[in-house]
Amino acid sequence: MQGPTPRLEIRNVTRRYDGRLVVHDVSLQVLPGQVMCLLGPSGCGKSTTLRMIAGVEMQDAGEIHVDGKLICDTIFRVPPERRRIGLMFQDFALFPHLSVAENVAFGLNGPKRARRARVVELLERVHLAHHIDAYPHELSGGEQQRVALARALAPRPRIMLMDEPFSGLDNRLRDGIRDETLDILREEDTAVLLVTHEPEEAMRMADQIALMRDGRIVQQGAPYNVYNAPLDRSAMAFFSEINVIRGTVRGALTETPFGQFLAPGVPDGQAVEIVIRPQHIKIDFDRNGRGPNPTPLDGTPARGVVTRARFMGSESLVEFRMDHDGSLIKVSVPNVFLPKPGKPLWLMIRRDRCFVFPAGT
Ligand SMILES: Nc1ncnc2c1ncn2[C@@H]1O[C@H](COP(=O)(O)OP(=O)(O)O)[C@@H](O)[C@H]1O
Ligand SMILES: [Mg+2]
Repeated sequence: MQGPTPRLEIRNVTRRYDGRLVVHDVSLQVLPGQVMCLLGPSGCGKSTTLRMIAGVEMQDAGEIHVDGKLICDTIFRVPPERRRIGLMFQDFALFPHLSVAENVAFGLNGPKRARRARVVELLERVHLAHHIDAYPHELSGGEQQRVALARALAPRPRIMLMDEPFSGLDNRLRDGIRDETLDILREEDTAVLLVTHEPEEAMRMADQIALMRDGRIVQQGAPYNVYNAPLDRSAMAFFSEINVIRGTVRGALTETPFGQFLAPGVPDGQAVEIVIRPQHIKIDFDRNGRGPNPTPLDGTPARGVVTRARFMGSESLVEFRMDHDGSLIKVSVPNVFLPKPGKPLWLMIRRDRCFVFPAGT
């Protein structure tokens, strides 16, 4: 069965600078009303991808389609101003000498009355109607951001490209503005491609995450899936701290101090890494060296000694040096748990939350 036509589709887009591939064979689709997040470390090619879609830069290969129509390949090119694509960047620069209303009206054509109506509608939507005649310097950072959003939405773009749009705002403002922005974009049925290097921002905002690394999209899916079924160790490490337990496979099993782990399909002798996030390790008491009685799911407990414990607000982060090999393991515990350094405790890892990857990937 054929799905709905994507609002935005890019196919096999590639871009080189001085012979170096910075965007490599990138393909993705965004549906109307959907938020797709291009997530990856700084320098991986996110902004370059966005600039090609906006039309301010040309790809070396590949095609860009909007609503099923080709808007750009290496020969044909619709100019940026005719693509009906809205842009929002961190550095959103409102025009300082124009009022809020004039800023929002900037990209609008048509009769004056209709333009005014659209400006008022949008300013009401971003809760800034009372500032319609203010100037940018009279507004807070968050308010300016909302004006920038209204300005970008005014001409009813089919697609909104956002490049780290919230990174200039302080933390407390950010969450509110993110949610508000998303609500408005969904109401307008705009397709959104949001670029960020912050996994939390991506998880919070995206319907789909496309994980980018060295110019390529390496994994794509709903936030839950990308987080819980990581492609490899580094994809997993991008979202949170991780712990790595090393082992070697014998007969599709790996022996570790935490018991046996299944490694189906992995050949004998292959070195593997069992990777687990800090929140999926359980802590139990020493009981004079006897340790806990684990359930089958817990596997074998292993003992370690607390090296430090820090309170992080909603969790405590406790670090252990393990008795068996001196390696360090980090554990996240909800709320307050601050054992003293030197205290022996036992760790059990949630086997259903472990990932087994070939070593060195
Ligand atoms: N105009 C340019 N000329 C040469 N290299 C560039 C240019 N723009 C970006 N780059 C390089 O391309 C790579 C990807 O950049 P960019 O798309 O900005 O990454 P991101 O947005 O993911 O941080 C980086 O290595 C960057 O230095
Ligand atoms: Mg960038």
